[in-house]
Amino acid sequence: MHPRNPHLYFFSPTGGTQRVAGLFAENLNAADACTDITVHAEAKTFSADDCLLVFFPVYGGRVPGPCLARMRALRGTDTPAVLVAVFGNRAVDDALLEMRNTLTPQGASHPVIKPRSHA
Ligand SMILES: Cc1cc2nc3c(=O)[nH]c(=O)nc-3n(C[C@H](O)[C@H](O)[C@H](O)COP(=O)(O)O)c2cc1C
Repeated sequence: MHPRNPHLYFFSPTGGTQRVAGLFAENLNAADACTDITVHAEAKTFSADDCLLVFFPVYGGRVPGPCLARMRALRGTDTPAVLVAVFGNRAVDDALLEMRNTLTPQGASHPVIKPRSHA
C-alpha cells in the first residue's frame, strides 16, 4: 500500500475528542502531526500523498458550526480523509454526512468512523 503522510485535526471544546485523537496519534506514531483547531485553523492545502484524519464531536446531532468554519480553511487534491465523529452515546445523526458534504467540494474523499465518547 502506498504510504501517506497522516495529518490529524481535532476540534474539542471539552476535551473528549482530543483524547480520541490522541489515541489515534499514539498508535500511528504521529503525535507531531496533530493540530488543534478548537479555537483557530490555519489555511492549508494537502496533496494525494497526504491523509487527513478529522476528529470532531457531535453536538445536538450536528457538527458544531465553528468546527465546520475551521474545516473550510483546508483544501485537498483527491486527499483521502478519515472522518471520526465522537459522541455521547445518544446518536451521531447526520453529523458525519454534514462533515463529508463540507469536505468533499474541498477535494477530500473519505471513509467514516464513529467512536463513542468515554467521557
Ligand atoms: C451541548 C452538547 C450537545 C451534545 N449533543 C450530543 C448528541 O446530539 N449526540 C450524542 O451522542 N452526544 C452529544 N453530546 C455529547 C458529546 O458529543 C460528547 O460528550 C463528546 O465527547 C464531546 O466532545 P468534546 O469533549 O471534544 O467537546 C453533546 C454534548 C454537549 C455538551
